[in-house]
Amino acid sequence: MPSFTYEINKEGIAILTFDLPGEKINKLTSPVMDELDKVLDELALKKELKALVFRSGKDGSFIVGADIAEIRSITDETIGERLARRGQAVLNKLEALPFPTVAAIHGPCMGGGLELALACPYRVISNDQKTALALPEVKLGIMPGFGGTQRLPRLVGLTNALDMILTGKSVYAKKARKIGLADEVAFKEILLQRALVMTKQAVKKPRPIHVRAKKPRLINLIENSRFARPLIFRIAEKNVVKETRGNYPAPLAALDSIQFGLSHDREAGYYHEAQFLGRLAPTETSKNLISVFYLNELLKKDLHPSPVKIAYAGVLGAGVMGGGIAQLFAEKGIRVRMKDINTKAIAAGLKEAWDIFSKRREKGILTPIQARDGFDRITGTTDYSGFGTAEIAVEAVVESMDIKKAVLRDFEPAAKENFLFASNTSSLSITEMASASKHQDRVVGMHFFNPVEKMPLVDVVRGKKTSDETLSAITTLARKLGKLPVVVNDGPGFLVNRILMPYLNEAAVMLEQGRTIEELDHALLQFGMPMGAFILLDEIGIDVAHKVADILYQGLGERVKPSPMLEALYKEGYYGRKNGKGFYQYEGRKRGKPDVSVSRMIPAAGNKVTFAPAEIVERSVLLMIKEATLCLEEKIIDRPDLLDAALIFGIGFPPFRGGLLRYADKLGAKTVVEKLEGYAKKYGDRFTPSKSLIEMAQGEKKFYS
Ligand SMILES: NC(=O)c1ccc[n+]([C@@H]2O[C@H](COP(=O)([O-])OP(=O)(O)OC[C@H]3O[C@@H](n4cnc5c(N)ncnc54)[C@H](O)[C@@H]3O)[C@@H](O)[C@H]2O)c1
Repeated sequence: MPSFTYEINKEGIAILTFDLPGEKINKLTSPVMDELDKVLDELALKKELKALVFRSGKDGSFIVGADIAEIRSITDETIGERLARRGQAVLNKLEALPFPTVAAIHGPCMGGGLELALACPYRVISNDQKTALALPEVKLGIMPGFGGTQRLPRLVGLTNALDMILTGKSVYAKKARKIGLADEVAFKEILLQRALVMTKQAVKKPRPIHVRAKKPRLINLIENSRFARPLIFRIAEKNVVKETRGNYPAPLAALDSIQFGLSHDREAGYYHEAQFLGRLAPTETSKNLISVFYLNELLKKDLHPSPVKIAYAGVLGAGVMGGGIAQLFAEKGIRVRMKDINTKAIAAGLKEAWDIFSKRREKGILTPIQARDGFDRITGTTDYSGFGTAEIAVEAVVESMDIKKAVLRDFEPAAKENFLFASNTSSLSITEMASASKHQDRVVGMHFFNPVEKMPLVDVVRGKKTSDETLSAITTLARKLGKLPVVVNDGPGFLVNRILMPYLNEAAVMLEQGRTIEELDHALLQFGMPMGAFILLDEIGIDVAHKVADILYQGLGERVKPSPMLEALYKEGYYGRKNGKGFYQYEGRKRGKPDVSVSRMIPAAGNKVTFAPAEIVERSVLLMIKEATLCLEEKIIDRPDLLDAALIFGIGFPPFRGGLLRYADKLGAKTVVEKLEGYAKKYGDRFTPSKSLIEMAQGEKKFYS
């Protein structure tokens, strides 16, 4: 079965359709590139051809990129370089066809797919929400290698190209048109028609490749100036180093490739690009990022979709989380009824949701109409009116078992038959909460992370009596909401918070021992954590962290005993960002320097210990590894890869490290145990290695084979 077929209409225009057999999506595998090469040779010889439209035969998807399995298998620089050169040669052939070509794009147009579209002088794209154009290679630890770093800057200008290539972020229809990436935006139903019209215009008045439809503006003049251009590169480099802390080599390589390309001829530019790709592909960083990509794919897939349809949801508690959850449901087309104890709280919840809609509209993710319609799906109430028809209630009231049980008891008589009750609790037992219900099989944990609209993970917590049907309804719902669900068993703090808390607590202990907030946060950021421990504590709320820490202490005992400092800060009214009083100072929404007044809460000098800076990361991460192994022992979760996924997508454990347990494998169980034992001698039992870690060390075992 061929991947490429074409028809030629009576006006001499070929419509070339890419439809990879047996796959839902199109990707540019090596055999596909070979086939495309031959088809292009064939088309180039057809004298009657005046123009060509390139389109996808897949429903709702253009081309998702190169074949990631193939990239993953690259173990040698030369193989990667050869693969890039081959791709470049085929796309150069497309670009050199003796007639104009138009790419008609609907749905994701990613990586190699966009590079292919860039080899066509014209692009018409659909205005569908699914249509996103990106060069996301840096997210896999590599960079564009089919000419993307050379063609894109010439077409859309240097700053726009840097923005896309160095971050991998997607560009949607409106922006694509604005920056010249798309020549026209059309409804998907008439995309082909518009592409055909464009070919006619192109035949009449052909335009060379890499020229924008609109005249370049002042910004282009600046970007091309001999003085400004090096400055733009210097700023971009500084930003990349600041963002990546040197942990991700790909964006810097891409930057170099763009800079080289703009100051050399095209041949040299392509050569350089392929060399860089070759160097990046076999690196450990790239392999780890690709394994994270596969984890994402794994969690996205719904192997047992639930028949339960959720069209109307209740949200109990209109606070930070309730507002965020309501917004998410409403954006995805689910009507929401939000309940709180008074109208002021409802207004705050509505405002929270509105602010998120506004942000997403400003970013161009939602159109003004989508944002307005979404917000209109949310209504508020201070009683249970309207809850009788909601298929699910998501509870996000304050973190107190008594209050949550009372809410469940009050809700149940007002609920629809066959209702589902999902709690967003961070740490409280779902099994115990369910005991307040007459239908314990329908009570489940659905733990979103803050901020809801950004964080991809949802912990789905199975209480002792939660039914399989309920679990499946929630995982299907989570996916419908665009989230990645990980099912975990009930236990204090479930999975993510249980592993996170010892890490946060150790930072507080090290602060008491004499290290500074800056030093500690800096070391953890350098390791690759998205936030330092104290920044994160302020974001979560010291009050919330204190409560969760206490619940974990009661459930898990001495090894997770909260540092006295957390207690002292909480008592003194330090709640973090929410009240502008935390480990850091706040001016409105802006975080300032560490708050020196926190030092008053540090116990007297008796606790001071001198230790090497390397201990900061080691102690924090080793405690996480230990707690992770205990979660596996206690069957909170049963697969190391899912545990790693939960930490990456829940708290942003550095993706380039491939996951906590993958990192533990890199250290080796023997080293982990030796280091833990060393720290146990120095600082106490919380570092005593777990049984399974000791067994792994003795048997020289790994989490990943
Ligand atoms: N904040 C986070 O980072 C975060 C993250 C994940 C999970 N959670 C969990 O989400 C839940 C809510 O957290 P939050 O940060 O949104 O708290 P919040 O204090 O911002 O909001 C709680 C809301 O619940 C309301 N409420 C209290 N009693 C109620 C009742 N009987 N009926 C209806 N509403 C009632 C309060 O008025 C308030 O508006 C907690 O269980 C928390 O552990 C929080």
